[in-house]
Amino acid sequence: MIEADQVVKHFGDVHALNGITLSVDEGEIFGLLGPNGAGKTTLVRILATLLKPTSGRCTLGGIDPHRDPMAVRALIGLAGQNAAVDDLLTGRENLEIVGRLYQLDRAEARRRADDILERLSLTDAADRQVRTYSGGMRRRIDLGASLVGRPRILILDEPTTGLDPRTRNELWQLIRDLVSDGATVLLTTQYLEEADELADRLAVIDLGHIIAEGTPDELKERLGGDRLMASPTEPDDMARVVSILEQVGATAPYVDDRRQQASIPVTNRIEALLAAGQLFENEQIALRDLAVTRPSLDDVFLSITGKRAETDEPEPAAAGRKGRRR
Ligand SMILES: Nc1ncnc2c1ncn2[C@@H]1O[C@H](COP(=O)(O)OP(=O)(O)O)[C@@H](O)[C@H]1O
Ligand SMILES: [Mg+2]
Repeated sequence: MIEADQVVKHFGDVHALNGITLSVDEGEIFGLLGPNGAGKTTLVRILATLLKPTSGRCTLGGIDPHRDPMAVRALIGLAGQNAAVDDLLTGRENLEIVGRLYQLDRAEARRRADDILERLSLTDAADRQVRTYSGGMRRRIDLGASLVGRPRILILDEPTTGLDPRTRNELWQLIRDLVSDGATVLLTTQYLEEADELADRLAVIDLGHIIAEGTPDELKERLGGDRLMASPTEPDDMARVVSILEQVGATAPYVDDRRQQASIPVTNRIEALLAAGQLFENEQIALRDLAVTRPSLDDVFLSITGKRAETDEPEPAAAGRKGRRR
């Protein structure tokens, strides 16, 4: 549904995109994950007919957005980073105007607006000016405006940036519901957790290059997959813990002295956990923790870019980072 082939965009000296190639299948949610300035919005604007690439080619539903922009505009819905709705109009008026721009008659524009307001749980706020909306409601009405034309391709540029975690979760659910009826979605995000939650496949973009691509699980597996981790209650038991992990895994355990824990890669997470549990029981070693952990997308991003992705919160000193799923 979406193809990009060696897309390059230079703004004078700024090389925003340096040869982006990607392909999104029909019905798929494709995530474009990258930090600020990576080139996400530039690619979105090119796909959405708003910007011409310096070189390279792209198509949406087989159509080149620069040869036939009108046909592509009929195919896509775009919810951009900057709210496209009018603050002084009500939620319903905003959606009706979009419908009129799609050349719907008054009654049909009204019907679609009502239907979308309902799906976005905005019916109660429909007749209030958008300037009175909360941040989450604004994002919803923005998303709603992109749905009026019943697009087969939905392009969402950082749909939840700046929202609090609960509102973000609600919006995720909404996006999932929307795509369950067959739309193809390209979604950009700087949140690893968001890509992990929503994307069937994703590309990691940094400085205008795609540096990794795959399903969230494939990207995590690149880091070596599951690890069995154990930490003894008594630090003196560490040597015995290590010798038990050696019996369960295939390679030498890694010992993290600061955290007082030992870990080892395993291929069958359940088998390894049960076997280790039995051995610890037999040897009567008291444990503070025993678990199988999987690398998070955070770890993936760190390992391929050498830096952490953006987070919505300051990094806590010692505790696990928010959003990290182990
Ligand atoms: N119109 C423009 N003129 C000059 N530089 C631009 C323009 N638009 C984007 N850039 C630059 O291109 C790079 C990529 O920007 P952008 O696509 O907005 O990244 P992202 O959306 O991933 O944060 C940045 O360095 C940005 O400053
Ligand atoms: Mg952007």
